[in-house]
This record gives sequence, C-alpha cells and structure tokens, in this order.
Amino acid sequence: MSLDSKAVRREFALLERELGGQPLTYLDSASTAPRPRVVLAAIGRYHAEFTGNVHRGVHALASEASEAFEAARHVVAAHLGATPGEVVFTAGVTDAANLVADALALGPEHEVVTTQVEHHSNLLPWRKRATVRTLPTRDDGCPEFDALESVCTPRTRLIAVHHVSNVLGTLAPIERITAFARARGIRTFVDGAQSTGHVPLDMRRLGCDFFAFSGHKVGGPAGSGALFVREALLDELATARVGGGMVARVRDGDCEWRSGAARFEAGTPNVEGVLGLAAALAWLARLGREDVAAHSALLARQMYEQCARLPGVRVLGSTQLEQRTPLVSLVLPAGGLDAQSVARTLSDAFGVLVSAGQHCTHPLHERLELDATLRASAWIHNDEGDIERFVGALRGLIA
Ligand SMILES: Cc1ncc(COP(=O)(O)O)c(C=O)c1O
Repeated sequence: MSLDSKAVRREFALLERELGGQPLTYLDSASTAPRPRVVLAAIGRYHAEFTGNVHRGVHALASEASEAFEAARHVVAAHLGATPGEVVFTAGVTDAANLVADALALGPEHEVVTTQVEHHSNLLPWRKRATVRTLPTRDDGCPEFDALESVCTPRTRLIAVHHVSNVLGTLAPIERITAFARARGIRTFVDGAQSTGHVPLDMRRLGCDFFAFSGHKVGGPAGSGALFVREALLDELATARVGGGMVARVRDGDCEWRSGAARFEAGTPNVEGVLGLAAALAWLARLGREDVAAHSALLARQMYEQCARLPGVRVLGSTQLEQRTPLVSLVLPAGGLDAQSVARTLSDAFGVLVSAGQHCTHPLHERLELDATLRASAWIHNDEGDIERFVGALRGLIA
C-alpha cells in the first residue's frame, strides 16, 4: 500500500495556513518538519492530565509521567531497531555529539575521521576536543569513502559520519564504514538527523556504536531527540554530565553512578519533548515504515528529475537516484537572483518554503566554491504537486 499523501497532509494543522493567499507548500522539513496533530495532542495531554517529574516523584501524577516517559523509550527503540536500554534521550544531534565526545574522553591525541559534508554539529564537537581528519570530497560534493583506509591511522578513535547528508540528500554507505571501523577497533557515530524520518532503521544492521537523531526533523518537538548507544559500550563510557537523576548515591567525597542509559540523562529531561517525539514515531509506525520509505524514494526521484531539467541549474550530490532522499540543493545560474532572494520570493509570492544559504556546512560550500545553495526538502506530507509548484515558480524566477 502507498501513502495517501492528501490524508497525511490533513494531519498537520500548520498546513492549513496560507501565505500571501496561497496554500503552504512546505519543502523545508530538513530544517524542521511540521508537527502532526498527534504530537500537539501528546504534549497537551502531559500538560493537562499528568504533569509530574520523572523518576523522582512518588505521587500518582509523577508515576504516570514516569510510565509514559519509559513507554516513549520503547517506541524510540522500536523505531531504531534497538533495545530500550540503548536509548539515551538528548536534546538532538548537536547535544548527542557533544555527549559522545565527552563520554569517549576525546583529547588532542585522538583522531576523529569525518567528511567535509558534515553539518557543523557533526564536526565542531569533535574539533573542540580531538584532531579531525576529513575524507576528500568529489566535485559533486560526495565524500570519497574509498579513501578511509588512507585517512585512518592508529590514533583514529572515531569515525563520525552522516547517514544522509543535509545538503546532498544522499545516503552514506554506513554498513561498509562500520565494518571497516569494527575490524580496526574504531568507534562509529552516525548522524541520523536526515535519515530517521525517511528510511527504516536497524541498529544491528547498520553496525554502528552511536546513532543520533533530532525530534524536530521527524515531526517531534524541537529540543527532543535520542542517542543510540550500543549496549556493550554503556558501562565503559566516561560519565559525561553529572547532576540529579543519573546518580544512585551521593556521599561526602564520592558518588555511585546509575548504570545503563540513565547515567547519561542528568537533570530533569525534556518530558513533554520526549512524549511528543514518541507520538511522532508511533504515528510513523502506524503509517507503515516501509510505506513512508517508499513515499520518500518516490519524492526523491520526482524532485531530482524535475530539478535536473531546470535550465542552468546544477543539483549537488549523487546521480544514483536509489541513494537519494527527497532533498535537493541547487546551484542557481550565475548572474541571476541569489539563492536567498529566490527563497524569500518563493515564500512571499508563491507560499513555497525552502532554505537558502550554506545549511551549516561551510567546509563543503568552501570546497565547492559556492556562496549559497537553494535547498528543497520534502517529507510525508508532500506530493508531486508540491514539487511541481516549487519547480514551476523557480523556473519563472531564474528565466
Ligand atoms: C545532518 C544534520 N546533522 C545535525 C543537525 C543538527 O541538529 P540539531 O540542531 O537538531 O541538533 C542537523 C540539523 O539541521 C542536520 O541536518
């Protein structure tokens, strides 16, 4: 069965809004996705029915909140193909990468291998603590993954790589990378910000040590997210953040940390964020993860093919469509309107929402000698009509 994108669209209150008298064509989910009504309802229920702190209180509402919070961990685990004990709630990918950098106790003597394609959030946390080495980049923007052997050294502690690039929309060969890393005792961190709402996930198959994603890219609230940590690592990692909730006993002079994922969740968590996130993922599961993936693949093809036909426009990333998600970054014809002006005009005159700029990937734009690209990114609420409206309006602006 395929997704009924019209019915899916109705699940988003935001998409009832008009802009300049036009219905919204929301093609900016890579930046932040619209939230379905089930997410708004889950957050509302926590506020209206069982507000309480988790894992601390003894009263009835605190128990209900704790139960809902732990049920959310099961939902996230099911989405990731992990066990609930391997799920650490975070504020998103940026938070998760910083947490992992601390938990691995990285220092300048350690090397982290990554690519020039990474979002700054999968670059700067490593650069702050360790020595970063990057794979070379092809002219289409894709990393040369074949160069891993020559870039890794005996000092390489971690390979940190995107699952799907937020500029290229292409899938990285994660299973190949993790097999390579495992054979050399190197840890792997996968940035799943742009894959989690599009492709079915299975942590065992991916074979990574860490996998992070952000709630707001899968229809959940901003400031929510989760980090998968392979079970065998949970107790060998350093304690990254300390405070209430992650400690079993505190005495003068020493502490006994809690074990497992709880050791990485210091302080009151973003309870409503976690509940909203679980509501989004449970909804995706009800839609059918295979159907969601098939819809993404269809949109990816339509988007690439329509954009590649635009005169004078270059689409970054791989031409192998089965490796693409519905995200295109476009280099606009020289001498015409710049990407930012085009994005603003698309919004105000056509109700079409896309991104423009360097999308938190300065090294990639510098490598490709680009000031800015125009990025359109689709999700489950979009259909071919949305892509046609975007491409049609863009064609008029660049003519
Ligand atoms: C590939 C990628 N990684 C990391 C991030 C950072 O996510 P967050 O700001 O939610 O931490 C983003 C957000 O745009 C992203 O696209």
